Amino acid sequence: MVKDEMFQERVVRVEKPSSHFTLLRAPNGEFLSTSDTNELSVFDYVDDKAIWEKVGGKNAYRHIVTGIQLEVEAADAENGCYLRYQGNLLANDGSVGGEGAVFSAGHGPAHLPSAYLESFQENGWVCLPSIVAPDIVEELERVSCTGRWEAETYERRVPPLNETAAVAKIITEPVSLWLMRQYMKTREIRLGHSPGFAILSPDDGKRRVQGWHSDFPYLWGIAGSETVNRIPVHKVDGLVMGVQRNLCVSEFRKENGATCFKLGSHTFGQGPPVEWINGNTSRQEGVRESKGLPYTGPEADVVEAPAGSYIVYDSRIWHRAGVNRTAHKRAAMLQAVIPMFIMPFMDTSRPYKDFIHSSLADELTELEHRELESVMVNKMVGPQGHLAITVDDELTGRISVT
Ligand SMILES: [Fe+2]
Repeated sequence: MVKDEMFQERVVRVEKPSSHFTLLRAPNGEFLSTSDTNELSVFDYVDDKAIWEKVGGKNAYRHIVTGIQLEVEAADAENGCYLRYQGNLLANDGSVGGEGAVFSAGHGPAHLPSAYLESFQENGWVCLPSIVAPDIVEELERVSCTGRWEAETYERRVPPLNETAAVAKIITEPVSLWLMRQYMKTREIRLGHSPGFAILSPDDGKRRVQGWHSDFPYLWGIAGSETVNRIPVHKVDGLVMGVQRNLCVSEFRKENGATCFKLGSHTFGQGPPVEWINGNTSRQEGVRESKGLPYTGPEADVVEAPAGSYIVYDSRIWHRAGVNRTAHKRAAMLQAVIPMFIMPFMDTSRPYKDFIHSSLADELTELEHRELESVMVNKMVGPQGHLAITVDDELTGRISVT
């Protein structure tokens, strides 16, 4: 490819929203929502019924689905408030009457969860712009040594989960959890690995550039060792074995190396073409010098998104990291998410145990603890009940890898 034909990918830009809805959390972290009979109640997930809007000029919240309006009354607890419906205080469980509970009002999505789901199901990917609150994004910039902290160098000592509670907060982000459970058609979803940073430094014209591939568990185009079985290439409609949930810690732009996709390729039932330079090829020594960059032409798409956005996509979609043509580092936090019947990529039990035994655990609500356990602890469920699965050091030492 000659130089003029490089970086011709189509840009799909997701703009920074001008406003966000509000999520109202009960003391245990559950979300104030409505039941099928339109009664106020709390639930452990966020769909459209958990979406509230601040009423302009008034100290009140309006429920988007039913129009129910709640008055806000300041409470003593930090950042909390009492909520009144028709003059009566709301209790812990969201019911009217009884002892009033302190709710917290927090950063919500820019659009309704059902709108995101429709787009996800139709296209195999969706972007939730700025879904993560700015203070959490800033904390992740600090830990990844990007943004204001880019003069420092990130050295991974422990998994990011064990460095800051911000990672557990983004793991348990409720709208994306609901979307992935809907898309994979199961409530039982797991992290394939503890979340990790992908930090892309400015390109120097020489460094290795990631080739085209599908993500875990498929790993088409980047199969890894021949001794490891991955999902065979196949075409099956209706069964999804993995979703990738990537957080844009930095704003994602074409120039700073936002991910390049071949949108729609999750339906092709095959990996990326070898001519595009896939992940197996790009790993080889001297490929950039001999063959140039992986495909950067107009058949590819770059998704641009504001900082704090989740880009959630079917793991089969062909993609690769971009090329950072700016002077600044850009960071993302990557999470492969799988249904419980897929073997995880890495052991999540160790970082999870380290987390729950650390002081970081104190920063989570009861619901966030339940969700973190749910996505990080793999289980066998059988006649003996629920058994947690972890790595066995003795057997690990004994197994022979052929
Ligand atoms: Fe990837």
